[in-house]
Amino acid sequence: MSTHRIAVIAGDGIGREVMPEGLRVLAAAADRFDLDLQFTTIDWANCDYYLQHGEMMPADWFEQLKGFDALYFGAAGWPDKVPDHISLWGSLLKFRRGFDQYVNLRPVRLMPGVPCPLANRKVGDIDFYVVRENTEGEYSAVGGRMFEGTERETVVQESIFTRKGVDRILKYAFDLAQRRPKKHLTSATKSNGMAISMPYWDERVEAMAASYPEVRCDKYHIDILCARFVLSPERFDVVVASNLFGDILSDLGPACAGTIGIAPSANLNPERDFPSLFEPVHGSAPDIYGRNIANPIGMIWSGAMMLDFLGQGDAAHGAAHDAILRAIERVLVDGPLTPDMGGAASTSDVGLAIVDAL
Ligand code: NAD
Ligand code: IPM
Ligand code: MN
Repeated sequence: MSTHRIAVIAGDGIGREVMPEGLRVLAAAADRFDLDLQFTTIDWANCDYYLQHGEMMPADWFEQLKGFDALYFGAAGWPDKVPDHISLWGSLLKFRRGFDQYVNLRPVRLMPGVPCPLANRKVGDIDFYVVRENTEGEYSAVGGRMFEGTERETVVQESIFTRKGVDRILKYAFDLAQRRPKKHLTSATKSNGMAISMPYWDERVEAMAASYPEVRCDKYHIDILCARFVLSPERFDVVVASNLFGDILSDLGPACAGTIGIAPSANLNPERDFPSLFEPVHGSAPDIYGRNIANPIGMIWSGAMMLDFLGQGDAAHGAAHDAILRAIERVLVDGPLTPDMGGAASTSDVGLAIVDAL
């Protein structure tokens, strides 16, 4: 039995409330499937740490974390204490970039028991992946302000698209589409308005598509793609997008499938040179923090994705992943549910019920 060393980084806000439920379910799964998970709590990468130290993380954060097998992350950000660009560029975005987690894999699935805000949709109708580029693109710190305070005040924010960065995310997405029954890939573009980066993205998609003759490939501008997510989500299978477009699509998709409170994500370094990071799609939700009503399912499902990735196809890990998913489905059908899903249960009620269902 191999040991997995996991750094637990709860972060801010409801990250701290959903994390204990994620750990509770992982501990139960480890017990049942005989997995050896060793958790180490990290008490930095949060805004209170910033207020005390003037930084979100210690200077040697990379050295401290690089030897872990995975990072299990809650959420960061508390805009009333620290501006968001400081807290997020000081924590989560450093992890993604420093550990070269260039794939952000975000499943979008209409789950049993979850009322769909779109009419006449049933389980199975919405079941796709957003594959988001996670280390470059529109998220960049290149640029700056000029002529500040004058009438010529000018702000420049560059986007960066490298051949290596674009090709590796496209390859991951095509490989995923190739393994799925529908073998269908959709690329998000905006080559009508963004005249340099997006035509390049399209060109690389076409080049990659030539190596995957079995994959049906289409592309949509991001504006109409958003409309199609709402009007006909059943048409999607694997959706590949740049960093910003992927961010937007991965909140829109889960909203179309009921709630962002259950949406998971895996920030992957597929080569396993560095730890990958598993976190819910949602943020720190200051508006509900402190009431023990946050939905822990996004955190718990992300834990299942972590086991799957750590196991690399090993049967016990795969079984643990599947069992957590079945337990989540059971609780979504029978309850208890948190208020975002129309229930009155607490965060811990849901965590405990998922452990019971396991
Ligand atoms: P958010 O996801 O935190 O919240 C958006 C809305 O969804 C809020 O009304 C919130 O109450 C609700 N919500 C979110 N998660 C929920 C859950 N598990 N259960 C029930 N309701 C839930 O997004 P925001 O308000 O834009 O951001 C708040 C802070 O979180 C900001 O600092 C932002 O930068 C940060 N953020 C961090 C991450 C991350 O760490 N990965 C992701 C998104 C936002
Ligand atoms: C996400 C979040 C982050 C992102 C923010 C908090 C920087 O919205 O993980 O989706 O934009 O990537
Ligand atoms: Mn987001």
